[in-house]
Amino acid sequence: MWSGPWKRNKEVSSAQIDRGRIPRHIAIIMDGNGRWAIRRGLPRSLGHKAGVEALRGVVKACSGLGVEYLTVYAFSTENWRRPKEEVGILMNLLTEYLRRELRELDENDVVIRAVGQIEHLPAEARTELARAFEQTKSNRGLVLNLALNYGGRAELVGAVQGICRDVQGGRLKPAEIDENVVDRYLYTAGIPDPDLLIRTSGEMRLSNFLLWQCAYTEMVVVRDYWPDFDEEALLQAIRAYQRRNRRFGGLANE
Ligand code: FPP
Repeated sequence: MWSGPWKRNKEVSSAQIDRGRIPRHIAIIMDGNGRWAIRRGLPRSLGHKAGVEALRGVVKACSGLGVEYLTVYAFSTENWRRPKEEVGILMNLLTEYLRRELRELDENDVVIRAVGQIEHLPAEARTELARAFEQTKSNRGLVLNLALNYGGRAELVGAVQGICRDVQGGRLKPAEIDENVVDRYLYTAGIPDPDLLIRTSGEMRLSNFLLWQCAYTEMVVVRDYWPDFDEEALLQAIRAYQRRNRRFGGLANE
């Protein structure tokens, strides 16, 4: 059972959600931790800390709703440009999150995975990630996909390099390369494209997140800063998604 502070008693009617059309894959750009803190006269680090709490709530809610994949942008390839101290704080929060939450995530059948160049993360974070991957790999519930040192362009460059290596090695013919083949060379190989991309803090940008995978993803941008994004906000985003008419470039069928 999910325990403790994850419980929220907002007056949200999850009955307004069509349970038959829950997005299989939700991706989230968790933006606005810094502004959330500054607005309260707090250091940015406390914004990130509050961001981890928001993540806990959203993971629990997604798990309860039967979402299959949740991909969260926790650290981008560009985030290394932040002051060293803030990078250190984010890495420590990741390490602590995994240490503190692994048991509960595992008990709730969550599978922990990551996308990004995780080999460049600090050793402590890599150790905790390896433990989390190993411990949860056979679970059958929500896949929590942590985007860490992730950049959509870097991912595509890596895919092109992998494809070139396989063409050079005679394992792949250029004529065989189609969208499905490209998919197989991405970090997200085997994971369906996101149905819904949520971005908090009102910014209308993709910020190098899942560039290939979001070709037909429905976007919902909310004004809340990430630490304020709770189960009710998630349900509202899902309702907005459910009102959309997804055409994938074709014609409307309603
Ligand atoms: C954006 O806020 C958020 C990030 C760069 C990091 C997101 C990280 C967390 C939610 C916590 C750590 C994650 C895990 C998995 C433990 P910002 O700092 O860019 O906010 P701002 O735009 O207001 O400055």
